[in-house]
Amino acid sequence: MKKRRKRLRVDRILYCLGILVVFVYLVILGISWIINHNIFKSVKEDNLLKTNKTNLKVWTKTINYINENVDEITIKHDGYYIKVNGNYIKNHINLDLNKYTTKINKGSFKNQKGLYIKKNEILDEALNIKLKLPYYLRKNNEVDVYGIKKGEYTLYKGRVKVKDKYISFDTSDDYDDYFITYIPLDSINTKTTLTCYVGDELDISFKFVPSNATNKSITYKASNDLLEIKGSKITAKKKGNTILTIKNIKNNISTDIKITIKGKKKVKEVKKEEEKKYEIVNKDGIYYIEDIMIVNKTYPLPSDYNPGGLSDDFMDAFYEMQAHAELDGIELWIQSGYRSYYTQDIIYNNYVSMDGQNEADTYSSRPGHSEHQSGLAADINNPDESFNGTAAAEWLKNNCYKYGFIVRFPEGKEDSTGYIYESWHLRYVGKEWAKKITESGKSLEEYFGITSRYE
Ligand code: DAL
Ligand code: ZN
Repeated sequence: MKKRRKRLRVDRILYCLGILVVFVYLVILGISWIINHNIFKSVKEDNLLKTNKTNLKVWTKTINYINENVDEITIKHDGYYIKVNGNYIKNHINLDLNKYTTKINKGSFKNQKGLYIKKNEILDEALNIKLKLPYYLRKNNEVDVYGIKKGEYTLYKGRVKVKDKYISFDTSDDYDDYFITYIPLDSINTKTTLTCYVGDELDISFKFVPSNATNKSITYKASNDLLEIKGSKITAKKKGNTILTIKNIKNNISTDIKITIKGKKKVKEVKKEEEKKYEIVNKDGIYYIEDIMIVNKTYPLPSDYNPGGLSDDFMDAFYEMQAHAELDGIELWIQSGYRSYYTQDIIYNNYVSMDGQNEADTYSSRPGHSEHQSGLAADINNPDESFNGTAAAEWLKNNCYKYGFIVRFPEGKEDSTGYIYESWHLRYVGKEWAKKITESGKSLEEYFGITSRYE
């Protein structure tokens, strides 16, 4: 009798425990369901998955749902957003950006502090990244994003605006890693004196030091009314002396030029350019006319020619042009600069498979024949026909020669250049040549009397 009662009690305890386990299990299941249901909901609503937890646990079911139903979602996690696909969530939820702060001492970087973002470790599969910057970077309101390939640093996106402590940029397959930094401007180097005549448009050339400073905006101010300043255009109006101040407000840097304006107009000697015959020479496998490197359909570069990026001359001239364009309300950036033989090979063959070789040859160079391999040419803003005729394209057409560039494939010159009009493709040839070629109204091929044809 006693034994039986005891067994009954044990049975009851086991029974209750069983019920409890089932109940707890159901509660956990319910809570998880609610959490995951909310995740479903937030994904459905705005493709944004919000969490502030250090560890986000998401059911495989939810991940599968995300993968099946949306191409990508944005995770808001501990201060930053990452657009990812479902698999990414499982692997990369714990990120601590602060530990990626480092100092780079290489090339033009002198102990440059910034964030080194390892693509394989933390950006793998991410299509777009939005990062919350540490204070030392975000206090400047803008940063430069460098792309790193085989240890080479190339400016990938310049002056990316910091919005509410965040920056966002697309990760590009071209780069292995990224370096995010702000480089202060130390000085603006220019001539200290200048003499001109009433009516002259002033040629103010300067160099930024360091040339890769993040903010290179300038303003012009004259000490009196002898000069007329309209955007980037400065005209001498009256005889006398004046001081022109070039200032970068952000870094509180300024430099003065003493200007003497003479009343007597320079009598321009109108010398008729004689038709000169230019000779093309080959030095170490590279073609030149005078000091200009020639790269076109007729004259290729060796496949191993690699200047390591855009040349310093190109960059200095570009930065000077960019600062002047900004004064006229035009924003300029380099969309595609140096391209290796192999990158061009991939690009060109991609176009061939899309449009066929005949068509591709009218707008894309075969590997070895692209000026992008020279480090002396770049595509500005938007390498697409829709860029033709925009304010930026017109500005470039009218002004780029002042900084040493030519629009390399001008409108109506398809027969001589071998390419359709590319308002975005600029080639650096130096100020003198740029002025002569532009004023002649000829293409580079016409000016030097050369061909551009595949044999
Ligand atoms: N789009 C120019 C022609 C190039 O491919 O270099
Ligand atoms: Zn181009």
